Amino acid sequence: MSKKTIGGAVIGYGGMGHFHGRQMQRIDGIELVGIFDIDPEQQADAEQNGIKSYESREALLSDPRIDVVVIATPNDVHKEIAIDAMEHGKNVVSEKPVTLCPADLEEMIAASERTGKLFTVHQNRRFDGDYLLVRHVMETGILGDVFRIESRVQGSRGIPTGWREEKEHGGGMLYDWGVHMLDQMLYTMRGIKLETVYSTMTFITNKECDDGFSVLCKFQNGVEWIIEIQTNNFVQLPRWYVLGTNGTLVVDDWDLHGKIVTVTDLTKNDSKPVVAGAGITRTMAPRTDETTHTLPLPAEDYPTDWDSYYLNLIHALHGEADILVTHDQQRLLVRVIEAIFRSAATNEVVKL
Ligand SMILES: NC(=O)c1ccc[n+]([C@@H]2O[C@H](COP(=O)([O-])OP(=O)(O)OC[C@H]3O[C@@H](n4cnc5c(N)ncnc54)[C@H](O)[C@@H]3O)[C@@H](O)[C@H]2O)c1
Repeated sequence: MSKKTIGGAVIGYGGMGHFHGRQMQRIDGIELVGIFDIDPEQQADAEQNGIKSYESREALLSDPRIDVVVIATPNDVHKEIAIDAMEHGKNVVSEKPVTLCPADLEEMIAASERTGKLFTVHQNRRFDGDYLLVRHVMETGILGDVFRIESRVQGSRGIPTGWREEKEHGGGMLYDWGVHMLDQMLYTMRGIKLETVYSTMTFITNKECDDGFSVLCKFQNGVEWIIEIQTNNFVQLPRWYVLGTNGTLVVDDWDLHGKIVTVTDLTKNDSKPVVAGAGITRTMAPRTDETTHTLPLPAEDYPTDWDSYYLNLIHALHGEADILVTHDQQRLLVRVIEAIFRSAATNEVVKL
């Protein structure tokens, strides 16, 4: 017997809502039944493209053809809509950040447990090519023991306008890009305790919400992550910089330019002093080909693959797979975000 096609709907039909609509129209196993947005222009846009727009959220949630609702509204209303949808018997995918504080998340999880409905979060950047490549290189062991990972996203156009620059809607870069990069870190390090965070935030282009932050996260096994988002950078640092005892990985950008340099002989001393300002240095003299090996990145093996997120969702709704993004992962992520805000506000290291 062929499997039922999952009926999908989108609440909040803006930029990301359109993306979800297209995914549901394109991917086998799910179909777009309709959308709802409080903005009449978005409702009309859907209708003009042959997509049903419901007259109200209640009308959408009452349609028995809909199995799963994707919430792509501004961040402050994810919770209210998610709980309402689950109480109407719908499975829920919330956009990130799932919500704005641990207590709200617990209410959402309680609704999922009470109603027996699936409740998950769109952490699609677990399928970004650059991230998949970095994880693969780390897992091969070619870098030796990895002890420091730097993950950065930098722009020069400030915080986007609209709700993203308003605190009451969950604006700011920590809730925007930060959530993705922290999720990538926590997913990579799953099973290893995150002990402390220390962060600073910038408010250069916006006074109300952070337009960037830098956080140092220390794990129990000694591994450190630095995550930085900035929006006032006219020269960008690499997207990834990974240090191991045996090599270094640099991923410059989302097109996966970069390289891996490994050391072939740590004991051999090939250093020749180089001029450093007014002095000379052996310590900082670059290594030569005598003791290092440079590899290109296997870029073509790591395309970005956001469809896999939807395929996992469809399999999970059929009971054939575990859902990729779990409640406990979100609990930790929301706690880490809270700790980052606290550290920046108090200028103190925060223990988790
Ligand atoms: N996972 C990702 O890669 C990714 C990328 C971008 C945005 N997002 C997330 O998606 C969400 C939406 O972001 P966006 O860029 O699409 O914003 P957007 O402003 O383009 O769209 C939001 C839409 O929600 C509608 N809306 C607001 N309140 C509503 C309500 N109560 N009920 C119904 N509709 C309502 C607005 O009218 C608007 O059309 C945010 O949570 C954001 O963090 C995720």
